[in-house]
Amino acid sequence: MDNRPIGFFDSGIGGLTSVMALHERLPLEHVIFYGDTARTPYGSKSPETIREFAVQIVDYLAAKDVKMIIIACNTVTAMALPMLRERHPEIPILGVVEPTAKRVAEDGCRSVGIIGTKVTIKSNVYPDTIHSFDPQVKTFSLACPAFVPLVEEGIIDNEIMDLTIRYYMDDFVAENDFDRLILGCTHYPLIAHRIHSIYPKLEFYSSSREVILEAESLLKERDQLAVENQMVDRYYASDLSDNFLRMTDMLVGNNDAKIKLKKLEN
Ligand code: DGL
Repeated sequence: MDNRPIGFFDSGIGGLTSVMALHERLPLEHVIFYGDTARTPYGSKSPETIREFAVQIVDYLAAKDVKMIIIACNTVTAMALPMLRERHPEIPILGVVEPTAKRVAEDGCRSVGIIGTKVTIKSNVYPDTIHSFDPQVKTFSLACPAFVPLVEEGIIDNEIMDLTIRYYMDDFVAENDFDRLILGCTHYPLIAHRIHSIYPKLEFYSSSREVILEAESLLKERDQLAVENQMVDRYYASDLSDNFLRMTDMLVGNNDAKIKLKKLEN
């Protein structure tokens, strides 16, 4: 057993969907979350910038005596996971892509759609990782760069979001042969209900949830599950935007959680 916290990192509020999945699955685990709300979105930035930000934040989390770090961001996973692991060999660092790709292959899925940020889609990380498990799976990829800024603004349950979903996805869904879709960005579970209402036949793989199932197996294997949680979860952000405060309260709402501004630089 190990009651130390798990560190989480995302460019913004998307990573909270992974924290929600953790709370559901392993409620005794204690969380330290960092959302880079001042610099979100990452998904249209250069690899160098994303790596620079990722190093700052993972160094910060690593210094907090965490037992594991979850990169709750597909974009950072795609751009920086190997170098982050090399930099911190002392801590297990999990990315969101591999557990999701493995699930697709294990399910025997023959054909899958993938949506994500520009950087994630351009990197080809999902098709490559899925094919490393099963080369026969057909993949169809689509970047939806406006989803993250809309979610960060709290524009979710309205027609602007629906129009944006249709703008990106109508042709993609109509012209390609898949009925399962990877939500390859941790912000997307927050709009999954909108996507579902427009394309009710699609079933989703959530990268936010798959990484938690992987974390659970690893913690069990290493005998590191927490047995008590008397500590207060901590949520840091580089900008305490209204939406960050509102979404933290709504998604992981726990009145005892500490929410703090923390700016990081080299
Ligand atoms: N949640 C991040 C991801 O999973 C969003 C990246 C962004 O900031 O654009 O890719």
